[in-house]
Amino acid sequence: MLRIKNLSFSFNGKSKPIFYQLSMDVKAGEFVSIIGPSGAGKSTLFKLINGLLEPDEGEIQIKGNKSGSRLGSVGYMPQKDLLLPWRTVLENVILPCEILKEDWRKKMPVIQEWLSRFDLSQYENAYPDELSGGMRQRIAFLRTLMTGRDLLLLDEPFGALDSMTKRNMHRWLLGLWGELKKTVLFITHDLEEAILLSDRIFLIKDGRVYERKVHLARPRSTEQIYHSELIEMRKELEKLIHHDN
Ligand SMILES: Nc1ncnc2c1ncn2[C@@H]1O[C@H](COP(=O)(O)OP(=O)(O)O)[C@@H](O)[C@H]1O
Ligand SMILES: [Mg+2]
Repeated sequence: MLRIKNLSFSFNGKSKPIFYQLSMDVKAGEFVSIIGPSGAGKSTLFKLINGLLEPDEGEIQIKGNKSGSRLGSVGYMPQKDLLLPWRTVLENVILPCEILKEDWRKKMPVIQEWLSRFDLSQYENAYPDELSGGMRQRIAFLRTLMTGRDLLLLDEPFGALDSMTKRNMHRWLLGLWGELKKTVLFITHDLEEAILLSDRIFLIKDGRVYERKVHLARPRSTEQIYHSELIEMRKELEKLIHHDN
C-alpha cells in the first residue's frame, strides 16, 4: 500500500535533516501507529506522504505508483480538525465528494449509513460548534473516510480529548475496525493507544525509524490495556523514546 525507500528530507536545506535515508513499508489493511518525541518529524512525514512536501532524496510509492503527484491520493486528517464552522455536520462530511465533483445526493444512503455508525445521525444538521470534542473528531474522521481513499493518514486524531472520551473513541474504533477495510497510519503520543490499536508501531527518532510488532489478538477490546504484554511493550517503548540508543 505504501512504500518509502531511503527518504531524506530537510526544510530549506537546513543543516540537520528531519529524515535521513528512512525506509518503511505498510501493507494493505494494516493499522500502523507512528510515535516519537515532539518535533521528531511525524507530521512532516504525513505531508511528504500526501504530496504537500517533496523528498530531497528517495521514493514514496502509494499502491505501487512511483511517478506523478501524490496529492489527493490519500485521505488526510490534519492535527487540527479544521471543520468548517459555517457548514453543518452533513455539509462537512460531504466536502470531499464536492471537491471530487461526485454527486453526493446519489451517495446519500451510504452517507446516512456511515453517519449512523459514527453515532452522528441525530446531528447531521447541527453545526460543529454545538458538538463535543469526541463528536467533532468523529466528523473529521468520517470526512477523511469520505475521500474514498484506501490509505488514511490520521495525525493525533484523539490527542485533544479527555481520557474518558478517548477511551470511548477507542471502543468505538475497535468495534468498527473489522469492517473499515482501510490502511491506517496513525500519529499519537499516547503509547497505550498506539499499542491497543495497532498491528505495528514505528518510532521516529533522530531521523530514523524503529519498528515493533504488536502481538495482541484481534478483534481487540479496550480491556486489553491491562494485558501484561501491553504493559511490557509500553515500558520498552518508553525507554526507547526517552533514552539514547
Ligand atoms: N514549515 C516548516 N519549516 C521549517 N521547519 C519546520 C516546518 N514544519 C516543521 N518544521 C520543523 O520540523 C521539525 C518536525 O516537525 P513536525 O513534523 O511537526 O514534528 P512532530 O509532528 O513529530 O511533532 C520540527 O523541528 C519543526 O520545528
Ligand atoms: Mg505533529
